[in-house]
Amino acid sequence: MQLIDGNKIAKEIKAEIAESTKKLIEKTGKTPKLTAILVGHDGGSESYVSFKMKDCQEVGFISDLIRFEDDVTEKELLDTIEKLNNDASVTGFIVQLPLPKHINEQKVIEAINPEKDVDGFHPTNVGKMTIGLPSFVSATPMGITLLLKRSGIETSGKNCVVIGRSNIVGRPLSILMSQKEMNCTVTVCHSATKNMKEICANADILISAMGKPNFVTADMVKEGAVVIDVGTTRMPSTETKSGFKLTGDVDFKNVADKCSYITPVPGGVGPMTRLSLLLNTLKAAEKTF
Ligand code: GUN
Repeated sequence: MQLIDGNKIAKEIKAEIAESTKKLIEKTGKTPKLTAILVGHDGGSESYVSFKMKDCQEVGFISDLIRFEDDVTEKELLDTIEKLNNDASVTGFIVQLPLPKHINEQKVIEAINPEKDVDGFHPTNVGKMTIGLPSFVSATPMGITLLLKRSGIETSGKNCVVIGRSNIVGRPLSILMSQKEMNCTVTVCHSATKNMKEICANADILISAMGKPNFVTADMVKEGAVVIDVGTTRMPSTETKSGFKLTGDVDFKNVADKCSYITPVPGGVGPMTRLSLLLNTLKAAEKTF
């Protein structure tokens, strides 16, 4: 079994981004800028956004955080998006999800100019990605394809099973894995799937994006399979300073020995997700500067 070290691969690509950014700044005199909108004080969102801002500084981007309290109105949010759409100094921006219940998330996503939608959530980007046109691809699916490529894992002609069909991960990932570049035969499993065990046990590449700790057990995994764990459930823990521990979807202890490759949680998909946002922001800058 080989452990896929997402931290190591992300660090290598980050150095490449920093180099490209330096060259772009020298050539154009402009610096890429990523703005994040954060609503409320959810622990997970707070920490994800602060990592994203830190990543920007490390590769030489300008970063900016706009914060709102939970009671922000939809109009205030839409007005801010409109300002960012029209602000030439902003290369790309994201609205950290989830948003409070009184705000229509889809309306917010659709208000973002697709050219600045470095999360790749706007239907224009999702549609373009689906038919293989240049677009911003959402960060986790993009990070996973990069992880597989950089690890030298053969994907062409393989059976790939994706567990989960969320708009952010499972659905776009299933499309990317079926396209020519990855060339897999893809099956998507979800809450209504029958024979989940049998389907998963037939996977050469099993990707779980379910958000249920230890959902993928050893009997669901084929000998020699590649297992990618997208789960990041925050479980209470006395072992860490923060009081919680990120827990994956895969019963790592019992599954790892059966795999040819497996990603750990943390340190597998997570760092690659953060990296993909940087790649999209650099791409936006290269296009518009
Ligand atoms: N919430 C969970 N993942 C993401 C992400 O990739 N982008 C945004 N904006 N919100 C998220």
